[in-house]
Amino acid sequence: MKITISVLKADVGSIGGHLKPSQALLEEIKNFVHHRAKNLLIDYYLSCTGDDIAILCTHTKGPGNPQIHQLAWEAFLAGTEVAKKTGLYGAGQDLLKDSFSGNVKGLGPGVAEMEIEERENEPFIFLAADKTDPGAYNLPFYLAFADPMYCSGLILSPKMSEGFKFRIIDVSYTEKNKVIELNAPEDLYNLAALLRDTEKYVIESIYARHTGNQAVAISTQRLHNIAGKYTGKDDPVALVRVQGEFPATGEVLAPFNIGHYVAGFMRGSHIGPLMPCRLNSTISYFDGPPIVTGAAFSMKGGKLSEPVDVFDHPYWDAVRFQIAQKATEIRRQGFCGPSMLPYSELEYGGVVEKLKELEKRFTTVD
Ligand code: F6R
Ligand code: MG
Ligand code: MG
Repeated sequence: MKITISVLKADVGSIGGHLKPSQALLEEIKNFVHHRAKNLLIDYYLSCTGDDIAILCTHTKGPGNPQIHQLAWEAFLAGTEVAKKTGLYGAGQDLLKDSFSGNVKGLGPGVAEMEIEERENEPFIFLAADKTDPGAYNLPFYLAFADPMYCSGLILSPKMSEGFKFRIIDVSYTEKNKVIELNAPEDLYNLAALLRDTEKYVIESIYARHTGNQAVAISTQRLHNIAGKYTGKDDPVALVRVQGEFPATGEVLAPFNIGHYVAGFMRGSHIGPLMPCRLNSTISYFDGPPIVTGAAFSMKGGKLSEPVDVFDHPYWDAVRFQIAQKATEIRRQGFCGPSMLPYSELEYGGVVEKLKELEKRFTTVD
């Protein structure tokens, strides 16, 4: 049976700064989706990660379906009204355009979707990150799908021995979708050469080469490109099918114990370690650290099980402790050197203006 899994997410307002949406806002969006779900959705799951709300839903209408996108757009609009009425901060922040034109891509919300031939039993993980950008997934997915040091299935499972195809998008090119497909293991060095540059080259999807089946879909929208100025970080969501011909759940989770440094953190302009957190986690230290949450599901005929919180385990408490230390360590050097993003990626216009002014005051001397 062909099922589409869609996740659409947006920040439409939160409490106490950019921390977490209110319960009332979540309820409003949940009620909206609930009333519109009839004859459209098979199932849905609503969650928040930091200040972002994600609508995960299953249906048979295929990716990019205008009805599904309209439902999400209108749900976020309804949420925005509650945010405005109750004085939440940044009400409607990610809804960058006024009118809906059939697809939320390019309007602000992030989208990750895939149409799959549902397996006899269909386990998958929904990941959501806050205070970072889509390049945050480059390293963990490279390691989980291409490196036997992290994914033992690449050497142990005959179903995975052909490796995976990575589709990578150049997010700096805004005219059209500029993509390249690279195969692991042959293209490992080429993959690494691109994926090291997380602000430009971003994994969009991954496919099992043995069957051609899609394993991963990631939201690659850049708010910066849509708005032409800083309006918040992109806070990417991802769908990852697991087990069988794909890496096991634990193999996908394994690289998240690195707490690798990603772009984002305070004002979307810094570098901080990505911390795997419990579902519905909030934001704190230095508007961060950048966080990722994970909900694992099983699915039958598009009907979802209850979620399992993949980072809610004593193992990850120890990991979080180490990552907190990494966050403190890089913050000790404040604005200096690699703790902040390079000039081209600084999200707030202020410093750019300041540098332009200062440029005029430079003189050349012998
Ligand atoms: C980063 C983020 C926050 C804000 C910061 C300032 O993505 O959401 O770090 O950039 O709290 O917010 P404003 O400019 O709204 O006062
Ligand atoms: Mg956010
Ligand atoms: Mg935000």
